[in-house]
Amino acid sequence: MHLEVSQLYKQFPTRNGTVVALKDINLHIEEGEFVCAVGASGSGKSTLLRLIAGLDAPTGGEVRVDGVCVTGPGADRGMVFQNYTLYPWMNIAENVGFGLKLQGVRPGERRQRVAYYLEVVGLSQFAKALPKELSGGMKQRVAIARALASQPKILLMDEPFGALDVQTKEAMQQFLLQVWRQTETTIFMITHDVEEAVFLSQRIYVLSARPGTIKQELRIDLPCENGDRTYHIKRHPKFQHYKDEVMGLLRDREEAAIVAGATV
Ligand SMILES: Nc1ncnc2c1ncn2[C@@H]1O[C@H](COP(=O)(O)OP(=O)(O)O)[C@@H](O)[C@H]1O
Ligand SMILES: [Mg+2]
Repeated sequence: MHLEVSQLYKQFPTRNGTVVALKDINLHIEEGEFVCAVGASGSGKSTLLRLIAGLDAPTGGEVRVDGVCVTGPGADRGMVFQNYTLYPWMNIAENVGFGLKLQGVRPGERRQRVAYYLEVVGLSQFAKALPKELSGGMKQRVAIARALASQPKILLMDEPFGALDVQTKEAMQQFLLQVWRQTETTIFMITHDVEEAVFLSQRIYVLSARPGTIKQELRIDLPCENGDRTYHIKRHPKFQHYKDEVMGLLRDREEAAIVAGATV
């Protein structure tokens, strides 16, 4: 098992008492898989990703990558966040290479890797540009190139396309699938967008809210055209079926929460 999350529990102390953000989370991701976790806002998605990234410590349970317990951040896990986190004063190539520099990768290899991953994300001609010269979608492609450049065992993505307009988002989803195939990276993405999760994933974990628990695991089995999934698949009846199923799981919980709230 590549990534294994066992009995993960996370609570936060607040002024109004303790908030349980995650409860009894068990999940696994195999090498080369593309898995999404989908949940409403506040269901603990970012918390889960931060615990896997080692940016925060669990209250209980553990995260293992290739059998090794996560105790902090590491180059084996790459992160892409919703907000563009590029350094504004560095050009695109410097942004992509910055992590490699910190890891002590030699300049020659650094240049090669930066060139390769800029090519993968189709931004070679922007190597010398500054982030402010790029559109939102392009900036997110730089963030993906930067995360991939460290050649992590797993790429962790927290709603990476949440800030993009619908057309750019769709193009980026298709682009990410191509990058995934080309680089054979393992990807775990968190999103509240059900259509996005069904389009991208081989498997989906549906999270319920407050506290965040795994409600269901679904395998997504959709046909591919020439080995690639394109947005045409969104019109396939099976696509709609999966989308309805996930929506139903999320909706049940939402209604239950409203009803529970009403009786208090
Ligand atoms: N640092 C923190 N301190 C206190 N509460 C937090 C903290 N981080 C997250 N929470 C709470 O945990 C729950 C899950 O948050 P989060 O993981 O950000 O959800 P999501 O990403 O699914 O919207 C929320 O109720 C949120 O208020
Ligand atoms: Mg979040």
